[in-house]
Amino acid sequence: MEKIDVALGQDSYTIEIARGLWKDVGTKIRSLSKAEKVAVITDDTVDALYGKALEEKLSKEGFMVRRFIFPHGEHHKTLAVFETMVRACAQFGMTRSDLVVALGGGVVGDLAGFVAASFLRGIDFIQIPTTLLSQIDSSVGGKVAVDLKAGKNLAGAFYQPKAVFIDTDLLATLSTRFLHDGLAEAIKYGCIKDAALFAKIAGYADDAALLADIDSVVATCCAIKARIVEQDEFDTGLRMLLNFGHTLGHAVEQHFGYSCFTHGEGVAIGMYQLTKRTEELGMTAKGSAERIKSVLEKYNLPLTAGVEKAQLLDTMARDKKKNGNSITLIILQQIGEGVLQKVDWQEVPKYLG
Ligand code: GLY
Repeated sequence: MEKIDVALGQDSYTIEIARGLWKDVGTKIRSLSKAEKVAVITDDTVDALYGKALEEKLSKEGFMVRRFIFPHGEHHKTLAVFETMVRACAQFGMTRSDLVVALGGGVVGDLAGFVAASFLRGIDFIQIPTTLLSQIDSSVGGKVAVDLKAGKNLAGAFYQPKAVFIDTDLLATLSTRFLHDGLAEAIKYGCIKDAALFAKIAGYADDAALLADIDSVVATCCAIKARIVEQDEFDTGLRMLLNFGHTLGHAVEQHFGYSCFTHGEGVAIGMYQLTKRTEELGMTAKGSAERIKSVLEKYNLPLTAGVEKAQLLDTMARDKKKNGNSITLIILQQIGEGVLQKVDWQEVPKYLG
């Protein structure tokens, strides 16, 4: 069992990582919450796998439990689904001392967290992430949101969970595509902060070897994220490092209406394309883009989106990270060392090659 504390004063919490943790998750939640009612928010895919079992575990602990289920996929992370969920909490008669549990991947965690942040101006929530991407990134750090037509995560809050319970055995039901989707974010952590992690991921013989060691990858990524969030909870500086590959990645995802590339695949394209360009511009150590390319190819992650530069620029212009006349890009000096680079909007095309 690995325990990683996220020290944020009154909003501090612990990330617990262990194989088989799921068995005792009801007891763990009871030890943290005096709630009478628990709303388990999840999607149809995860509910079919784990919903009933979680309801039984929580009921055994004396909670009154309801499962609120929405259809899976980023295109359901909407204000409409959010409204349905908040209304469901109200109809269930939940009070300030009750609890939301987010059971699922990044979409579920973001949406359920935003419901918890908004209902009665904020009630407790706990994250049980079930995908690699949510275990190493989105369940940690308190960014909760829904998408608007104008862009991803445009309505949201910073709202920390009371705990994050990660059982890496739950990844056994993840498809290969989504294992690799999450791995793109692990590669990102390696790129921006940890060359040894990058080398480790590049070195696994195959997916079986990766999965055999996945606890250590998850723990390393969570620890990196925890230290960054502790220093910059509200994303005004250092935390932006976590956006490496994301500005272009979000634009790619959005360009295809979230139906062609997954989040991790978008990030993979963004990391490679930007680094190829910054290397050409002499800003990144030679050979970095090639190393990124080789690890992405190893895990069947895409390198290009096949979209015209002008179209991507158009989508990027609407990205929330565009701040007035400039945008903050994350650039690698070398593998393991990312830096923030404020770029004038007029200069952005140069970084797209
Ligand atoms: N996923 C990026 C962040 O939490 O800041």
